[in-house]
Amino acid sequence: MEIFGFGTIEILRFLHILIFVYWLGGDLGVYMAAGYVARRDLAFDERMRFLKLLMTLDMVPRYCLILMLPVGFQLATSLGYLDLSGVHMALIWIMAAAWLALVRTLHKQEKTTTGEKLRKLDMGIRYVVLGALLLAGGLGLTTGYPVAAPWLAIKLILFAGVMTLGLLLRRCVAKWMTGFRLLGEDKEKAEDLITEGRRTAAGYARLLWALLMIMGFLGVAKPMP
Ligand code: HEM
Repeated sequence: MEIFGFGTIEILRFLHILIFVYWLGGDLGVYMAAGYVARRDLAFDERMRFLKLLMTLDMVPRYCLILMLPVGFQLATSLGYLDLSGVHMALIWIMAAAWLALVRTLHKQEKTTTGEKLRKLDMGIRYVVLGALLLAGGLGLTTGYPVAAPWLAIKLILFAGVMTLGLLLRRCVAKWMTGFRLLGEDKEKAEDLITEGRRTAAGYARLLWALLMIMGFLGVAKPMP
């Protein structure tokens, strides 16, 4: 396939980098907004507005995580690092599109019973994908199959690490929500919960960025070919 004279690989490479940029950028936005949410000196309404902004911004890394998988696998297959058939790739794309639609619907219906069911389904998918990536990366590193290039196998393992940190970050957000609900009853305890949630989340976020950067570096440098 060619678009304006550029082949599939150039387009996939570009998309791969674009997703990387939006992922890190989106995460940075979430991090900054979180700082305002945790500020005790701001009015409650203002903090809630930042929380809303945070939740909206947080959708960017969520979409990027999902999109990175089909784009990365397609890139790796096109370059001959992975031996996936057209049917396998088509399935990966279809599953990613369905997962993306699920996450989008979930965001819109968060506080409904359907939303709760979709949330559980999304969590289930995350654990399956996480396990599959760990398995593929681990087997690749130890046996050379299904991923022969160690740098790519490590990327898959790190991706599983990124997904784990994403799950841990959700717990922090849950702590925040409890904190905000408590604000009317026990302000001191609520503020402590929010501050603690912010501190833990900041640590996870920094680790997540480091993993993303290492994955980017591995893609550029391809050490241990
Ligand atoms: C958050 C996750 C990821 C990040 C941040 C990331 C980042 C990058 C970057 C910056 C490059 C260099 C691109 C270039 O030099 O043109 C790259 C290359 C590459 N990535 Fe990823 N990547 C991620 C996930 C994946 C996944 C899941 C796969 C596949 C399973 C993958 C497969 C590849 C391949 C095959 C290359 C080599 C491209 C080439 O030689 O031009 N990446 N990655």
